[in-house]
Amino acid sequence: MKLSYLFISIIPVISTYQFDPNGYVIFCLCMGRFGNQADHFLGSMSFAKNLNRTLVVPPFRTFKNVPYSEWFKFEELDKYHRVISAEDFMTFIAPEYWKEDNRIGFCWSYEPIQDCRMKEGNPMQNFWTELGVDKFTKSVNFPLSFSDYELWKSKFPADKYPVLAFRGAPASYPIKKDDRINQRYIVWSDSIISEVDSLIKKFFDDEKYIGIHLRNGIDWSNACRDVDGYDNYMSSPQCLDDSNKKVTKELCFPSVELVLQKLEYVLLEKLNGNVKNVYVATDKNPMIQEIKEYFIQRDLELNIIHHDPWLPIIDLAILAKSDFFIGNCVSSFSAFVVRDRNINKKPSAFWGFD
Ligand SMILES: *[C@@H]1O[C@H](CO)[C@@H](O)[C@H](O)[C@H]1NC(C)=O
Repeated sequence: MKLSYLFISIIPVISTYQFDPNGYVIFCLCMGRFGNQADHFLGSMSFAKNLNRTLVVPPFRTFKNVPYSEWFKFEELDKYHRVISAEDFMTFIAPEYWKEDNRIGFCWSYEPIQDCRMKEGNPMQNFWTELGVDKFTKSVNFPLSFSDYELWKSKFPADKYPVLAFRGAPASYPIKKDDRINQRYIVWSDSIISEVDSLIKKFFDDEKYIGIHLRNGIDWSNACRDVDGYDNYMSSPQCLDDSNKKVTKELCFPSVELVLQKLEYVLLEKLNGNVKNVYVATDKNPMIQEIKEYFIQRDLELNIIHHDPWLPIIDLAILAKSDFFIGNCVSSFSAFVVRDRNINKKPSAFWGFD
């Protein structure tokens, strides 16, 4: 045999992916911005694991699909359950096992024959198009809760339905209490960490700093208008769960005075005036002048940074690394930071909540 022939024949096409006979779960993180998407992702991890299907890890959604591994370490997810990135799923699995002419969309409905409209609306259409999914060929409706795992297994077995493709995430918002711990497997990517570490060095020269999240845009002011007395609202279970308190206006949209007083309590009493650096993340008003003047009157000159990064994920990582964090209990953005900190045993507090 000629050597050249031998060479060609022993170079295999390497794909590390074998088809999983227990099937796949694929879905769009189509609700809201990063905080909501993270809640949904953590819940979907539990769904896939309990159905013992491979989790197809979707890209996050900004104005485009952002592959999971740009922000987080993909291989950490493997420690929780079998995963494949949506991009690899489309390249290595879909051509053979999820063919274009047989792509079923699943959606929740009591009506048995609703069209799931998998690709209608924003960002659903772009999400699937960017992944290379042109169309869905059929709809299947289910009136099942996402936590009825046994019913899912019996009604939609993997041999008949190898791929469960959902219009939205198979999870609830806000996140269920038991799913919060899944964040242990959501670990910042090396590129995010190195960017964030150099920013922290630049801003604070490696001194201690406190991170605060001020959610105070106009949409939030509207959202918080009539919430007094609610049992829960959006991400509020994160602080109200283990109390017998209810949602208040101040919990949702703290006044300027409340923010200053809480900050005073944390900086001067809890941290004994030893921390002089403040990192502010906000969607609207960073309150820099108000905070500076308030503390000058109390003989504390603060170094206040409002970086306002193009990518909110940078804010999240800097807040997660802070020495103390004060967040908004109702916000899913704050909730992501607090879960990360709880896992890393770092202290957090909330505006309007003791
Ligand atoms: C879960 O799925 C994997 C991979 O298909 C399989 O090896 C394993 O036996 C399954 N576990 C159970 C409990 O069915």
